Amino acid sequence: MDRALEPELRRELAERLRYYRDLGIHDFYRRGSRPRSMEIEPAAETVSASSEKLLFSVEPQEDMGARKSGVMPVVADGGIFEVVSPKPEQGVADHASALKVIREDLGDCRRCKLHQQGRKQIVFGVGNPQAELMFVGEGPGADEDAQGEPFVGRAGQLLNNMIKAMGLRREDVYIANIVKCRPPGNRTPERDECETCSPFLMRQISVIKPKVIVALGAVAAKNLLAINAPMSELRGRWYDFKPAVSDPSWPGARLAVTYHPAFLLRDPRQKGEAWKDLQMVMKYLGIQPPKKSAE
Ligand code: URA
Repeated sequence: MDRALEPELRRELAERLRYYRDLGIHDFYRRGSRPRSMEIEPAAETVSASSEKLLFSVEPQEDMGARKSGVMPVVADGGIFEVVSPKPEQGVADHASALKVIREDLGDCRRCKLHQQGRKQIVFGVGNPQAELMFVGEGPGADEDAQGEPFVGRAGQLLNNMIKAMGLRREDVYIANIVKCRPPGNRTPERDECETCSPFLMRQISVIKPKVIVALGAVAAKNLLAINAPMSELRGRWYDFKPAVSDPSWPGARLAVTYHPAFLLRDPRQKGEAWKDLQMVMKYLGIQPPKKSAE
């Protein structure tokens, strides 16, 4: 271990290593000193925010104008060490079966303190195991905790409308969260909770191999990208995303960040901005928005 590491960082690394050892994972490889870099493409300047009203009820907005460009680091697992031990789902060709293996591995998870803070059940994830598009939120709320499915409450209804406005059905996409247990009082999941849970999300992503991941809100974005930046900087650009342990023949996903539906419920004026983010995704995936019915 690097002698120059801050004591706090050393302590956190030691904790994390202990946690992985508890899981039976012993092989760790040190990453290069600089994270892999990626191009951030200037995103589509032609996206129009005015074309879709539908159930997502997007108000017309001005064009996005020049988009951000530059080079940004990608840290897919949010940690300094990559865990390269084989996973039980590796070699299971069928995506649905591989996801079941991960769910079984998760078991009645008690790896973090959320298991004793009032969660009713684990909310694993839902949708098409071969989805091209995956949405990742923050963590289950009361409705999700009661039903065992992500995004089934009011924010979920808005997410459904967003998916529909894109010309897709909820069953076409895969939906998951950074943490799989409801934080008490819907507080933001804490760092240790996210770090404990995210290896399972990474494994889900590695099985599904989506073309695009949409991070819903700052908590999801910051955890997936290990970037601490405001939403204004995180949105409107593409990131490359590939979990450290994943099929070498899969090039990885592109990741976009948009507002969390719960935020859009509180501030509906931002729906137009979210729609621009989704149009960027649709353009990349070659999805045409559904035609408006003649009035
Ligand atoms: N908010 C989230 O981030 N996830 C859910 O599943 C529901 C609400």
